Amino acid sequence: MNIDQPLTLLGGISAHEFMQTYWQRKPLLIRGAIPNFKHSLSIDNIRELVTREEVESRLIIHDGEDWEMETGPFDELPPASQPNWTALAQSVDLHDDNTAALMRQFRFIGDARLDDAMISIASDGGGVGPHFDSYDVFLLQAHGKRHWRISQQQDLSLVPDLPLKILRNFQVEEEFTLEPGDMLYLPPHVAHDGIAIGDCMTISIGFRAPTQATLARGLMDAASDQLAAASGEGFGLYADPPMAMPETMQQRYTDPEAQASTTPAALPENLVQKSLDALNAIRFDEALASRFLGVWLTELPSNSWFDIAEDPADLHDPDLPAGRLALDRCSRMMYRAEELYINGEVASCPASPALKQLADQRELSIPSEAFDALDEDEREMLNAWLDDGWLQFHES
Ligand code: SIN
Ligand code: CO
Repeated sequence: MNIDQPLTLLGGISAHEFMQTYWQRKPLLIRGAIPNFKHSLSIDNIRELVTREEVESRLIIHDGEDWEMETGPFDELPPASQPNWTALAQSVDLHDDNTAALMRQFRFIGDARLDDAMISIASDGGGVGPHFDSYDVFLLQAHGKRHWRISQQQDLSLVPDLPLKILRNFQVEEEFTLEPGDMLYLPPHVAHDGIAIGDCMTISIGFRAPTQATLARGLMDAASDQLAAASGEGFGLYADPPMAMPETMQQRYTDPEAQASTTPAALPENLVQKSLDALNAIRFDEALASRFLGVWLTELPSNSWFDIAEDPADLHDPDLPAGRLALDRCSRMMYRAEELYINGEVASCPASPALKQLADQRELSIPSEAFDALDEDEREMLNAWLDDGWLQFHES
């Protein structure tokens, strides 16, 4: 993708300019972000989707100051003729190819940050109330109209004792009515309230932003898994394959200087010190951080699903017809330096230019320079991904 090319999706500015001017900074209203937009999923499709066990969903009904929230799956939603309700289906990109493709138009922000595409449907007056989110969001109007009111207010205090986050004191600063194809970008903590005008469907492209505590814990988990592997105590999530750990880790505690004790229950100060010394010997370095991040960020949500290929292509086959290899909509693939990550694992082959191209573009043409450059081991690995449905071959 050319990040300097003006994009209709961003109202005629480039991805580069969007990131410099708006991302994480200020709201942007984009009229006609997708001209003549008609999403392939209808309101009825979403009604069906929220009946499924594997789809995370919520129903929110409000009556004046009263807010009610239920979690799905739902046998049936209220009729369109009943006002003031909205149903939200989370991570529709896991369940629908077109929604996944729509979400991936925002990959100029990077896979580490892109989270999911949520779809809401609502009857007249429906919405989730005035609130703020801790994440950036693109709100794309997909069907009908929604009236948005936004505010960059400092006061983010909430009404107590409600089943959802509702701002106590929403002070509207700007408002706009969005029609299909219009989109509103909001950085974190901008207060907003979107109210459906008649039947309405909105697609939210959401982002993930870990807390510092999550990052620090992840690194500790990765170090802990590596230590367990180095001590022969199994392979945790982050220790396959194991990385080099300081050899001193296997040395045992010694105390030739210890004296006879009159306080046998007291913890030895020496042991306290040695514990800190042991921790300080662990290298919390870039390799460990990228191991944690690569595995964690590509981990599959529990409700993702792969169709196992019945007759998968064989990439060793010299008569393989022309076509393309494409990652399944649920597959997550990332890399850093030599390490390649897919669906919560470290790949068995290092991140070669061809495999990085597959990760960045999510597909490889056959034939192509990149495909031809794949060696035997890489083909074997991709064959296994084809078998598992992580990757698909489409003949052209
Ligand atoms: C919605 O689609 O109604 C909710 C989106 C949001 O406000 O974050
Ligand atoms: Co919101």
